[in-house]
Amino acid sequence: MTESTNELSGKRVLLGITGGIAAYKAAEFARLVVKSGADLQVVMTTAACGFVTPVTMQALSGNPVFTDMWDSRVPNNMAHIELSRDRDLIVVAPASADFIAKLAAGFADDLLSALCLARRSPLAVAPAMNVEMWSHPATQRNIARIRADGVAILGPALGEQACGESGMGRMLEASELFAEVVSALAPKVLEGKRVLVTAGPTYEPIDTVRGITNQSSGKMGYAVAQAASEAGAQVTLVSGPTALPAPASVERVSVVTARAMYDAVMARVKKTDVFIAVAAVADYHVVGVRDRKIKRQAGNLKLELAPNKDILGTVAAGRNAPFCVGFAAETENLKAYAQQKRRNKRIPLLAANLAQDAFGRDDNALTLFDDTGEHVLDRAPKIVLARQLIAHVAGMLLKPK
Ligand code: CTP
Repeated sequence: MTESTNELSGKRVLLGITGGIAAYKAAEFARLVVKSGADLQVVMTTAACGFVTPVTMQALSGNPVFTDMWDSRVPNNMAHIELSRDRDLIVVAPASADFIAKLAAGFADDLLSALCLARRSPLAVAPAMNVEMWSHPATQRNIARIRADGVAILGPALGEQACGESGMGRMLEASELFAEVVSALAPKVLEGKRVLVTAGPTYEPIDTVRGITNQSSGKMGYAVAQAASEAGAQVTLVSGPTALPAPASVERVSVVTARAMYDAVMARVKKTDVFIAVAAVADYHVVGVRDRKIKRQAGNLKLELAPNKDILGTVAAGRNAPFCVGFAAETENLKAYAQQKRRNKRIPLLAANLAQDAFGRDDNALTLFDDTGEHVLDRAPKIVLARQLIAHVAGMLLKPK
């Protein structure tokens, strides 16, 4: 999901590294940032250089690394100003307890703390420290203070620590940090909007241990929820059974059956500006679900199936309906079926894909159908397609009706 996707193309990021064993994760994080098309400037404290070398970070970032306030490569001796001016975001990872204390107090006695004080760009820190240091009242005071000053705190996470202890204080993994940075820098095209997304398969029980489901992994719907959240929306994700973690800042409502999904959506639709139905909802449920396991018997076993309500169709037909987006997974005749489906459901936008291209995979290819025609989104990771879809939705919302 994080490989060569140009997600940060044109962005200018400054990575500050302070002294801590988690500095090794900063090297991987730097690689992801550069691979995504950003220009990366690395600044390290003296203590950080004891854990990873400036040579490593220079090789990964492709830019000279700065460690000293008086670096003669900056002609006016104002490295703390020069380096902080043209950046879209400054991320300090790992941020040690000591560095967080300096930020809270406004110290500026080395290059990194001085440029954080002199900056105009947003600042995010990824704390990394021993569990006792993290939970110490002094650190918690400092965290509360820098948060109040507008600094974004990324993590920390719970888990095993390099010191052998276990608890809160582990730095986020490089891929998690990267996702946070992408999110922080995403254009906020859905700011203030409430978005409701359905995702995953549904499961229709036959008896207490068996049921009917489908091969939807939920990955596309989860990616759409993440992309909407990155775009500044308040997102609720009504999800059928999947093993996927909920994207950060997204409220997840877990359901099993199509009828439960219908109820969960209907309970929230009035407070929804945009409804995106990505779930592969079962078209039928079993009539007379047995309350015990059905035993093998001679001859055929008949199941009676009754139709489920069309969630998207019902939402779209309602009074004051939100802006509705449907998904269609076809196995053939993509264009004709998709156009037909959009008309039948009376929705402004439908995203269509070939089921055999999409189910269970991390990438996909989508074609968007709206009143202006079709828009092909080339094969890409689902999160990239989801961001393109959200940008398209935002564009349509802006157009006068
Ligand atoms: N959908 C829904 N509620 C249902 C069935 C589908 O909200 N009970 C939504 C899906 O989330 C998707 C779109 O409707 O956005 C799919 O349309 P649909 O016509 O139901 O697709 P298929 O079930 O694939 O239809 P068909 O089997 O006729 O191809």
